[in-house]
Amino acid sequence: PGPGPVVVAIDGPAGSGKSSVSKQVARRLGYGYLDTGAAYRALAWHALEHGIDTSDAASVLDVAGDFDYAISLDPDAYWVRVGASDVTDAIREPRVSDAVSGVARVPAVRESVNGLFRALVAHSGRPGVVVEGRDITTVVAPDAPVRILLTAAPEVRAARRSAEVTTQDAAAVAAALHQRDASDSAVVDFLTAAPGVEVVDSTHLDFDQTVDAVLGVIQAAPPSS
Ligand code: DC
Repeated sequence: PGPGPVVVAIDGPAGSGKSSVSKQVARRLGYGYLDTGAAYRALAWHALEHGIDTSDAASVLDVAGDFDYAISLDPDAYWVRVGASDVTDAIREPRVSDAVSGVARVPAVRESVNGLFRALVAHSGRPGVVVEGRDITTVVAPDAPVRILLTAAPEVRAARRSAEVTTQDAAAVAAALHQRDASDSAVVDFLTAAPGVEVVDSTHLDFDQTVDAVLGVIQAAPPSS
C-alpha cells in the first residue's frame, strides 16, 4: 500500500482558535478537516440521551458499545451525526461541554475513538487531513510530518469563547473553560509541547495571522517520507 494522506496534527486547549484555524488551513490546502473533540462530544451527547451518569466509566463504556457516529471531513460542510440525529449544534451545548471530560477520561473510549480517527483519515480521499484535538501530536498521529501546539493566554481564550457562547455571561464562560481545562489536563497534557512539536502562540495574533503562522510551519516542514 502507498502512503496515506499527509496528516497535519494540531493540538491545543479550548479557545485557542484551534477549530476555526484548522478548518481554514484545511480549506487553503485542499485537505480534509477532522475535529476529534466532536467524537468525544457526540459520545457525551449520546450518553446524556440515555440518561447515563458520565462520571461513571462503566456506564460510559456501556453506551459506547452502540455508538453509531459519523462526521464530515469537508471543512466547507461540517456536520456530526449520531445514528439518524444531526448533533452538529447539540454537541456545543453547555450540558455536553460539562459532561465531555468524563467521557474522554475513559481509556477504552480513547482507544476506540483513536482507531476511528485513523480509519477516517486513511479513507478521507484527500491528499491530506488537518486533524485537531488534544493528543493528536502525541498519541493519534505522533509520526505526522507536521505537528503543532496552538496556544493562547487563558484570559484571551476565555474572551474568545465568551464571544462564541451567547447563552452564558462572560464570567460563567470563563469559569466553565477553567473547569474544563483542569479536568481535561488530568487526561492529556495539552499545554506542553512534546519533543518536535512546533508551538504557535495566538495570544497576540488575529485569525488571519494565526492561519498564516500555521501555514508557515507547514511550508517549513520537511516533506513526508
Ligand atoms: O476541542 P473540544 O472542546 O471540542 O473537545 C471536547 C472535549 O474532548 C474536551 O473536553 C477534551 C476532549 N478531547 C480529548 O480528550 N482528546 C482529543 N483529541 C480531543 C478532545
